[in-house]
Amino acid sequence: MKTRITELFGITHPIIQGGMHFVGLAELAAAVSNAGGLGIITGLTQRTPADLAKEIARCRTMTAKPFGVNLTFLPAVTPPDYPGYVRAIIDGGVKIVETAGNNPQRWLPMLKEAGIKVIHKCTSVRHSLKAESIGCDAVSVDGFECGGHPGEDDVPNFILLPRAAEELAIPFVASGGMADARSLVAAMALGAEGMNMGTRFMATVEAPIHENVKRALVAASELDTRLVMRPLRNTERVLINAGVERLLEKERTLGAGLKFEDIIGEVAGIYPAVMQRGEMDAGAWSCGMVAGLIHDIPTCQQLIDRIMADAEAIIRGRLEGMLEN
Ligand SMILES: Cc1cc2nc3c(=O)[nH]c(=O)nc-3n(C[C@H](O)[C@H](O)[C@H](O)COP(=O)(O)O)c2cc1C
Repeated sequence: MKTRITELFGITHPIIQGGMHFVGLAELAAAVSNAGGLGIITGLTQRTPADLAKEIARCRTMTAKPFGVNLTFLPAVTPPDYPGYVRAIIDGGVKIVETAGNNPQRWLPMLKEAGIKVIHKCTSVRHSLKAESIGCDAVSVDGFECGGHPGEDDVPNFILLPRAAEELAIPFVASGGMADARSLVAAMALGAEGMNMGTRFMATVEAPIHENVKRALVAASELDTRLVMRPLRNTERVLINAGVERLLEKERTLGAGLKFEDIIGEVAGIYPAVMQRGEMDAGAWSCGMVAGLIHDIPTCQQLIDRIMADAEAIIRGRLEGMLEN
């Protein structure tokens, strides 16, 4: 399949693996890229820019195909060494960056000068238009269904994607709730030129995370996510577990008076506990409603091959067959 996204990134299939904290390591990024999609290393999972440089080098030993790095801009008391991470990306010869979390304007001149293509992930038409106006090459439009941070507007992809198509000139991919060929074809019909998947790529053989997490995703239904941290305007969609129940109880009790410190036990340091040690009740970790569509744990190659073959069957068979002549 050829779209403006496959052309922009030099990839075979219009499928991107979004940055995921403690999931987007070299193993997963390389596996997705080797299968013809775009794999992405999560920058801030690496503790220092030097560690990121090593992870980029490690990924290069596993794939000769293009891969990207995610840079998430978070509100933080002590911000990470962003200039250092950007330097590691440029020096590592990476040519694609996925930005998220906040306006990446400050970093664009450096990235552009190094010939890097930037895809900004955001959850609204207004932020997509901002990304376009500051010179981003593409946008990843993340609907309310998504795992992670859906923003505060709560617009699902059946509305958000066609709205983005009405306004944007640069290409965009659909993100949030994407799992299979049906998602891809539907996203294309709504105006996207590819799709970005997070949660689905966690349940793959190569995802370097604990088996308990993969099994939990297969077992989960579309009813099993919850929104947390809404009172802090830092909403996150997570998989329900005992730690999340505790967090939600605190949100109910403390109401508008809730502060970050009140819930630190349920949100800080959770990723290594869950992803590396498989402690499923530790607390809040991102997961999309798409868990309800995950029924197996294929390799990335099997997953992507299946999506592309089924997409062709849907377009040439089911959809074309509905036209009367
Ligand atoms: C476990 C997990 C961790 C994530 N961590 C990040 C992150 O660090 N930075 C980021 O930009 N997005 C992050 N995301 C969001 C994904 O990149 C992607 O936008 C989202 O998962 C898409 O929705 P889906 O899960 O329905 O496919 C994370 C998602 C998951 C499931």
